[in-house]
Amino acid sequence: MRLTSLRRSTPFRLALSFGLLFILTVVATGGVMYHLLRNGLDAQLDTALNDTFQVVSSTYAPDDIEDLITTLDSYANLRPADDGIYSLIDSSGKKLAGNFKAPILPEGVLTVNASDIGLIGNAVYRLQAGKLGQNTLVVGRSFAQMDAMLRTVLISLIWAAVLAVLAAVGGGIFLANRAQQRLDGVTRTMLDVSNGRLDSRIPLRNADDDLDHVFKQINDALSRLAGLVEGMRQVSADIAHELKSPLNRLRLTLEEARRTHGAQGDVAKLLDEAHDESDQINATFEALLRISQIEAGARRLRFNAVDLNEILNLIEDVYTEVAEDNRQQLVVEQSQKTCVNGDRELLVQMVVNLVENAITHCPPDTRIGVFLRRDRAAAVITVADSGPGIPSAEREMVFRRLYRLDKSRTTPGSGLGLSLVKAIADLHSARIELEDNHPGVKISVRLPVL
Ligand SMILES: Nc1ncnc2c1ncn2[C@@H]1O[C@H](COP(=O)(O)OP(=O)(O)OP(=O)(O)O)[C@@H](O)[C@H]1O
Ligand SMILES: [Mg+2]
Repeated sequence: MRLTSLRRSTPFRLALSFGLLFILTVVATGGVMYHLLRNGLDAQLDTALNDTFQVVSSTYAPDDIEDLITTLDSYANLRPADDGIYSLIDSSGKKLAGNFKAPILPEGVLTVNASDIGLIGNAVYRLQAGKLGQNTLVVGRSFAQMDAMLRTVLISLIWAAVLAVLAAVGGGIFLANRAQQRLDGVTRTMLDVSNGRLDSRIPLRNADDDLDHVFKQINDALSRLAGLVEGMRQVSADIAHELKSPLNRLRLTLEEARRTHGAQGDVAKLLDEAHDESDQINATFEALLRISQIEAGARRLRFNAVDLNEILNLIEDVYTEVAEDNRQQLVVEQSQKTCVNGDRELLVQMVVNLVENAITHCPPDTRIGVFLRRDRAAAVITVADSGPGIPSAEREMVFRRLYRLDKSRTTPGSGLGLSLVKAIADLHSARIELEDNHPGVKISVRLPVL
């Protein structure tokens, strides 16, 4: 999955949100834990200091401080100087025992830097000082051990947060990919359906989860829709089919009447008109049947490589003169050789319909252009004219069966030419664009190239 689509993916966004929440929780609980631990260790240090102070001071007797001096010295020798510090000074500030010479300090518990009490280095100490007669007893402990422990805890917390970020992003990408694959199935199916392949269905995983349930419902709805569309298609095809034989008989009867009775004058004219009308109805039914047959999609099996340049050459050969006879000018322009996978006969029919529309629905002096160009992975056939154009409100409707603009009602035709163009385009997975040519109509068919 690419980064942009990953950023747009809902599952990834969800996973990322939960990941962020998770990280915030880790950081917040880590912070609280660190704070509590620090307070706990502080209290523990004070208790330990106080215990030591009590034990040492219990050996003090006002008339004999030898015991006190021996005890303090043994404590001082027990612990390295940077961790435990002990000092007994007399009222003049002279050191009587211990491993450092304490300055005059107030009674109680206090935190000092090494330099404050005449020690070298930058350790910080917690001290308890108290009077024993005229002397002052000072016991202290550095924060070094506690700081080292807190540092270890802090590093562990940072690692936990980093792992949480990696797990959140990695898990998010994994989940997003899985969900996206299923959503891609929906997108593909919807694209197929909107391109006219109504038999396309969303692939199911049979995982019996909520997504499968929704997809199954969409598939059922698509099946019903396909059934309806097929039914309608079938009805119009059936009607056209059923009426073909009686229409043919009617036509033959009219011809027979004209021939055998040697009709003359008005009767002959009326019979000819009736014959022409039946021809027109026949053509309409033929076209309706043809559209249904194309929409059924079976002709896709006959697709092969079709040379579009050859089709345009054919159009030029046949229609330049037809346009000239109509006092119109036909120009065909094509740049590079372009082949598509398709049905040649239908593609010819498609371009013919567009060119014939321009010739039929445009007045003399109209310029008609037929162009073929390549646009990335598409071959674009454009038929443009400088005629009266199609109002924007009707541009969608002209592709409907039997739809004609009011002004075209008097020109011959049945309003099926563009429906056939659309059916052929759909069969070839092509897109049709109808635009204003300022003035005139510009219809482009965008076919996927080989
Ligand atoms: N180039 C054009 N310029 C102006 N109007 C057009 C043009 N092409 C199509 N139309 C309008 O769109 C309508 C539908 O076109 P369509 O080709 O489907 O039917 P038709 O040409 O009337 O009949 P048929 O093609 O079945 O003989 C036309 O009746 C016409 O009003
Ligand atoms: Mg037409």
